[in-house]
Amino acid sequence: MVTIVVNGERRDVQSSADTPLLYVLRNELNVMTPKFGCGLAQCGACSILLDGEEVRACITPVDMAVGKEVTTVDGLAARWAKQRKLTPEAAAKTLHPVQEAWVDEQVPQCGICQFGMMIKVTELLEHNPRPSDADIKEALTNSGPSPHLCRCASYAAILEGVHRAAQIMAGGDVG
Ligand code: FES
Ligand code: FES
Repeated sequence: MVTIVVNGERRDVQSSADTPLLYVLRNELNVMTPKFGCGLAQCGACSILLDGEEVRACITPVDMAVGKEVTTVDGLAARWAKQRKLTPEAAAKTLHPVQEAWVDEQVPQCGICQFGMMIKVTELLEHNPRPSDADIKEALTNSGPSPHLCRCASYAAILEGVHRAAQIMAGGDVG
């Protein structure tokens, strides 16, 4: 058995240490936002943050997460609240700017790729708060083990979503 921290909560895991984190999250811990797309680190649907860096959970053994923070989309709002030192009352009402932007811009279509996209975009914005179109395209195509793929081709909306999220993060949101 190993113990990992998922979205701020300590969770005991019965699966063997070499079980892919994706299967542990979905099948054992009931954390369903990371999706199974290819299972081969080729699509990005399963992406999560491990200590703030994107990894592909379909090829990451669960023991790689021991001693690190696992963050899925479910934990983004709390991550933002902690970074902004929000009060518990304010934190309970907040979304992460990427989540807010995704709603504002109506980014998802079928949704299968979107949780991985949001994880990647969160990682990008934490490193580069004002990315250009070229920076965003680079992050989503070249910076991981493979491009993040969207079979619905929502790429234009994703680009708008990232700019909107950056604006919200910078405090430029007046809505
Ligand atoms: S399911 Fe992990 S990259 Fe496709
Ligand atoms: S929204 Fe359907 S795969 Fe991206």
